[in-house]
Formats: sequence, structure tokens, C-alpha cells
Amino acid sequence: MTQLSAAQTPQRTPGDGSRALYGGKSNRRITVRDITAAKERGEKWPMLTAYDATTASVFDEAGIPVMLVGDSAGNCHLGYETTVPVTLDEMTMLSAAVVRGTSRALIVGDLPFGSYQEGPVQALRSATRLVKEAGVGAVKLEGGERSHRQIELLVESGIPVMAHIGLTPQSVNSMGYRVQGRGEEAAQQLLRDAKAVQDAGAFAVVLELVPAELAAEVTGTLHIPTVGIGAGSGTDAQVLVWTDMLGLTGGRVPKFVKQYADLRKVMGDAVKAYAEDVVGGTFPQDEHAVH
Ligand code: KIV
Repeated sequence: MTQLSAAQTPQRTPGDGSRALYGGKSNRRITVRDITAAKERGEKWPMLTAYDATTASVFDEAGIPVMLVGDSAGNCHLGYETTVPVTLDEMTMLSAAVVRGTSRALIVGDLPFGSYQEGPVQALRSATRLVKEAGVGAVKLEGGERSHRQIELLVESGIPVMAHIGLTPQSVNSMGYRVQGRGEEAAQQLLRDAKAVQDAGAFAVVLELVPAELAAEVTGTLHIPTVGIGAGSGTDAQVLVWTDMLGLTGGRVPKFVKQYADLRKVMGDAVKAYAEDVVGGTFPQDEHAVH
């Protein structure tokens, strides 16, 4: 067999190749092992939230490799003001819909406030519902050092866990919606939280609203992937709330969101056109009628 010299050897570039999480050739459902392998390859990947089967099927067809059925469903889908009121029944129903609407993406179901804070056994009971009843491939929960016992038991029980540190919206009543990790003491706490969730066995960790330099430092320190939201470009992956990034959310969206479409306008204009057609008698036409 001809040996290639080092200069001739094809170099694997991040995101290149049939195993790539985004743009790869495999059609089977992505697992947490694929996520771990992507970090080893230095590959960046996109994650989006999803709350229903139809929207999730669009993201799946577009190749989004990981979808989070986030408890942001509370504000973005269910009409609550915060994520705090979201229940495990609601998360189970939404997660099941997203699983049904997808065939390739890894679906991560969020454990809502009150479903794991009592301790590891409560966390296991709640996560088991999301795995058995909804069919998710992993769960997410908030908290670093304070949640490490929950993460340990879930992982020991065979349930992959994505952790979430930095701004943790379920703690809005005590924390507010403020940048986390500013200042030496807060930065050291974030690093301790990141190490605690990795040591407990989490396969990935969301870093929400932390300074970009600190997020990059955490990413370089951990062997598990970091998923940034408002955490700069130095993380392994990025996540956005889909209603924010496609412009469906009403009102102000956070500064870290890039809006890729204006669905609120597209839908509003289309709905007005329909209403005017009905009022003006131009819909339906003969082509829309059955005879
Ligand atoms: O609930 C959610 O959508 C989240 C993301 C913002 C990471 O936790």
C-alpha cells in the first residue's frame, strides 16, 4: 500500500467528513457519543430549541443535530411570563411531540423548576418520565455544584445529562436576568461549577450569559462540549431560542440574539391578506372549491 507523506495526508478540518454533526451523511439518530466525538474533532455545532412536532421537523430536515425542548417553552410557547410555572406534564407532552417530529436530531428534554431541586431521587423520577414517556435521548437541568448529586445519579442510571450554568432562568426570582461570572470571585465560581458538572458525568454544559473570555476559558478547560447562549464565539456549540432567532417572539429580544428571519411580519402579513380576501369575497375561488 502506498504510504502518504505527512504533507499528503488529508487533514480533517472541523465540521468536515461524513460523521460531522451538521452536514454529515449519517441519517440515524444522533447520540451523546456523537457529541463527545465532535469535541474530540474540534467541531462546532448548532442547537435550537423546539416545542412542537411541525417546527421540529423543519429543523430536523435542515440538519440541526441537537434540539432542546427548553422550559423556555414557558415564555415562548405557553404564554407564561417566566419558565418557573412550567410543569413536568407540560415538558413531557412537548418533548414527546418534538421526538415524534424528528428522526435524526438528539432531543434533550428540560427538567422544569421543581422537578429535581428536592434531590437526586426526585430528579431520577422526573428524568425517567421524559425518557420513557417522551422518548428524549438526554435531559437538561440547571445548576453547577448545587446540582452535581442529581447529575451523578441520572448518569449512573443511564440518563445522559446536559448541565446549564451561568444565568439559570429558573432562579430568576433570586438571580434576575443578569450577566454571570463578572469579577474574579464570580469567574472562579463559574469555573468550579463547570468542573463540578463535568466530574458528575454531564456530557455537555450550557453557558448562558457569561463574558466571552470566561466562556472560552471554560471551553478550553473542559473535555465536554460547552454550548453557548450569550457567551461569545469561543464555545464548542451555540444554542438559540427558535422563536427569537426566527423573529416570532413579540417585543424585545436579548442583544445576543441574531435574528435570521422576521416570521412575525411574514405571518401577520399573510393572515391579514387571508382576512381581506375573505371579507372582500376573493377567497375561496372556484379552484379552492369542491364540486
Ligand atoms: O429553556 C431553554 O430554552 C434553555 C436555553 C436558553 C439554553 O435553557
